Order: sequence, then C-alpha cells, then structure tokens
Amino acid sequence: MSEEKKLKPAVLWFTGLSGSGKSTVSERVSPVLKERGYRVEHLDGDAIRDIFPKTGFSKEDRNAHIKRVGYLASRLQAHGVFVIGSFISPYKESRDFVRNLCEDFVEIYISTPLEECERRDVKGLYEKARDGEITQFTGIDDPYEAPENPELEIDTTDITVDEAVERVIQYLEER
Ligand code: PPS
Repeated sequence: MSEEKKLKPAVLWFTGLSGSGKSTVSERVSPVLKERGYRVEHLDGDAIRDIFPKTGFSKEDRNAHIKRVGYLASRLQAHGVFVIGSFISPYKESRDFVRNLCEDFVEIYISTPLEECERRDVKGLYEKARDGEITQFTGIDDPYEAPENPELEIDTTDITVDEAVERVIQYLEER
C-alpha cells in the first residue's frame, strides 16, 4: 500500500446484506484514511437507526432513510470530507438517487452470499427472521437488489478484513 498517493475525497457507499461484512470492513477503512490526514465521517446504518429508532423497514421507509442519509453524505463530501456509508440500502432506486446527488460516489458492493451471512448470523437476526420473529428481513422475506455496475465488489467469504480493506484502498489509489 503506497502512503504517498493523494486520494480524492469521495462517498464510499458500502451496500450488502446484513452480516456481509460492510460495517466491519468500512470501520477499518476509516482509520486508514484518517491516518493519512483525511477528514472522515462514517455513517453506519445500525448506529443511525439507534438514534432515530422509528425508522422502519418497509420499502418506503428504507428508501426515504437512504435518501436522507445520502443527502447528508453528499453535503459532507462537498466540504472535502471522505464519507463512508454502510447501509444495506437494498433498493437500486435510492442508491442511484444518492449516486446522482454526490459529486464522487463509489459504490462498494459487499457481495458475501446469503448462505454465508446466515451461517455467520452475528446478531442472531437470521434465526429470528426464519422463525418469523422478525419480518421484512432483507434476503429472507424482503428483497435485495444487487448493484449491477458497482465500482468495487468484494465477497468477504474467503478473505480477511485486512485484505478487504486493502482492496478498497488500492481501488482509491488506482482509479
Ligand atoms: S436499510 O435497508 O439500508 O434501510 O438498512 P440499514 O439502515 O442499513 O439497517 C440495517 C440494520 O438493521 C438491523 N435490522 C434489519 N436489517 C434488515 N432487515 C430488517 N428487517 C431488519 N431489522 C433490523 C440489522 O442489524 C441491520 O444491520 P447490519 O449491520 O446490516 O446487520
């Protein structure tokens, strides 16, 4: 990894299923960029939903939520901040809306398959969704529209977090 290359602050938008690794990888990208002297803001789906607990999981709620946080991301980036967004963001419509708002939008599709996400079941949510305790759960009884042309796609099934972070930084250096 070269320490020299100057990077252009962008909105790094991590999308993927619950348990795919988007929060884990994006959390580790943030300090790498900070160490290089960039201003970084990490907007994470779970953290934001803790602050605004009434945000639901219907298609309308998810799209509205993503458009709101996407607007925030675009404003931060306009002021020179590297923005890292990690949201399931399952609908193409709202991801594209955010893409169009942002001057420089990098869609990072964490494409770890459902089977692997469910095997990990870090938060026990897949089990609850299978048992019907949670409904509208992405990948189980709610859709995930996979990005068709993401800037970067990373399947975390067989790679380490360090390797995934390296791929993101490498992409930013080479683009
Ligand atoms: S979205 O679809 O972009 O609006 O979702 P997001 O804001 O990223 O929030 C996803 C986190 O909410 C938890 N959770 C659910 N996810 C998906 N579907 C349902 N029904 C659901 N209920 C709760 C879950 O912890 C998600 O966090 P991650 O980090 O993705 O596992």
